Parts: sequence; C-alpha cells; structure tokens
Amino acid sequence: MSSIDQVGTFSLGDRRVKRLGYGAMQLAGPGVFGPPRDRDAALAVLREAVARGVDHIDTSDFYGPHITNQLIREALHPYRKDLTLVTKVGARRGADGSWIPAFSREELTQAVHDNLRNLGLEALDVVNLRSMLSVHHPAEGSLEAPLRVLADLQKQGLIRHIGLSNVTRTQVAAGRQLCNIVCVQNQYNLAHREDDALIDELARDGIAYVPFFPLGGFTPLQSSTLSDVAARLQVTPMQVALAWLLRRSPNILLIPGTSSLTHLRENLAAAELTLPGDVMTALDTVADIGPA
Ligand SMILES: NC(=O)c1ccc[n+]([C@@H]2O[C@H](COP(=O)([O-])OP(=O)(O)OC[C@H]3O[C@@H](n4cnc5c(N)ncnc54)[C@H](OP(=O)(O)O)[C@@H]3O)[C@@H](O)[C@H]2O)c1
Repeated sequence: MSSIDQVGTFSLGDRRVKRLGYGAMQLAGPGVFGPPRDRDAALAVLREAVARGVDHIDTSDFYGPHITNQLIREALHPYRKDLTLVTKVGARRGADGSWIPAFSREELTQAVHDNLRNLGLEALDVVNLRSMLSVHHPAEGSLEAPLRVLADLQKQGLIRHIGLSNVTRTQVAAGRQLCNIVCVQNQYNLAHREDDALIDELARDGIAYVPFFPLGGFTPLQSSTLSDVAARLQVTPMQVALAWLLRRSPNILLIPGTSSLTHLRENLAAAELTLPGDVMTALDTVADIGPA
C-alpha cells in the first residue's frame, strides 16, 4: 500500500481513481511550449509518480504541443491497467506558443486522433472539452456544437467518457442535458474559490471535480496564513494547500503539476497530512471571496 492510498478514491466514469494524481503540463518546455529543459528528468517524474501509486494523470496534446503526450508514452507505455489518462481538447498552439481556440468538428476530431496517436491508445479514457470562449477564465456561451462532436466520437468508440473544463455552472448544467459528464476541471485552490457551490452540486451527483492550478499554477500560492499553518504543522505550504483541497470535498481529485522529483514526492506525501478543524477555519480566510 502506498501513502496515497490513504486519501481514498472517487469515480471517474466507470473507473475509480485515487484522489491524489498528477498533472503533466509542467513537463513541456517554458510556457508549456517545446521540449523540456531536462528530458530524462521529465521521464523520471512520470515513472516515479506511477511507481508511488498514482493512477490518474492529466494531460493534453496541446502541451508542447504533442511533447507531453509523447513523454507519457515513452515513460509509461504499455500502460498499467489501473492507470487512467485524462486529456483535453479545444485549443491548438500557434507557432509563437499562443493558445488558439480549436472548436470546429475537424479540429476536435484531429485533436482526438493526435491524442490517440501520441499516447499510443485505441480509445481515450476521459476527454475534457476545454472551453476557449475566453482563454483564461470561464465565459458564458453555448458549448453544444463541440459537445455533440465529442459525443459522436464517443459513439465511434474513440472516447470513453466526456468532461468539461474552464466552464460556468450554466454550461455544466447544459452539458449534462446533452451527454454524460463525468468530471469538471476548473481553476480552484485555497485562494480562488469561485466554484464552491458548483463543487458541492457535483459532489451530490457523484461527479468528479478536478481543480487546475491547485498550487496556484504559474503564480504559486502565497499567504502568511498558509505559511503559518505549515510551520505549525511542520510541513510545507504546498502540502497544506493540497491537504485542504482533499478535505474540502470528497469528489475533488488532485492533479498537482511538477517537473521536479522532489516536488512530486512532497506533493504525494500530502496524503499523510490531516488538517485539524481549526486549521480548516483559519485557511478559509485565505480566499479572495470567502467561503460559500
Ligand atoms: N484545464 C485547464 O485549462 C488547465 C489549465 C492549467 C493546468 N491544467 C492541468 O492542471 C495541472 C495542475 O496545474 P499546474 O501544473 O499548472 O499548476 P499547479 O499544480 O498549481 O502548480 C504547478 C507549479 O507549482 C510548482 N510546484 C509544484 N509542486 C511544488 C512544490 N511541492 N513546492 C513548490 N512548488 C511546486 C511547479 O514548479 P516545479 O515544476 O518546479 O515543481 C509549477 O510551477 C496541470 O499539470 C494540467 O494537467 C489544466
């Protein structure tokens, strides 16, 4: 039994995955573009994650582009039967590394085939439709047309399950009318709690919520309260941030990203940390908008 078994599991479609997984975005080069600075280190992080019991890896073919998926394939193929790879489509990269919406039927179909080829799979476990109505934040607007494309690809057997990313509550509700949504992947962490109500709603319905930027992403979380709590518990602030998310709701699946073996081990060790009630109350004050 590895230490991450302690945090339990939650369903992701017809699979159950451990609540502490790994996000592969940091493995590409600077700006999630081009090859990693240290290829061998990137492969080592992936192998170590799985060796330590990680059974849920988040990726996309637009990381690199293509490079992160190729690293996953090189490091881990043939995949363990219990490994769930979750990818996302809806964007492509410009020659300058820019993020460009790619929502047409042709682009989405191409993206699914690119993921299949680069990951070396015949079907993708879970594909998140990543809304690009606004690049950095959820924005209202219909996602019906691209969701119907993914549903068609699901009928063809290329996709097992569909999720949504960077979306509003309205879009989640509308998406659930169109097809079975197994997870929602939005930005959420100690300091960004806009999705509090959505998380609780999804938990009631058994749908996974997968926060991206759990550690703050490109601007790692910084808070004196967080640092004080970490010092008191003799752990790191990032471990506290992850433990807080694990305690926040049972449907939260973590995918912290790192290109560092040291950080990977530290993040997985957050499974051993249980936050007392008074610490949870103190951490609630870190949020920009306050708890729901
Ligand atoms: N759906 C979407 O739109 C979307 C957007 C962004 C990300 N994602 C997914 O979400 C995953 C997680 O997000 P993320 O990787 O961007 O952000 P994150 O997990 O919040 O943080 C990653 C950053 O924190 C650093 N870090 C990681 N562990 C650390 C530790 N123990 N101590 C100090 N620093 C640490 C990493 O640097 P080092 O590499 O140096 O450790 C990196 O700079 C991604 O990997 C990706 O799969 C999805």
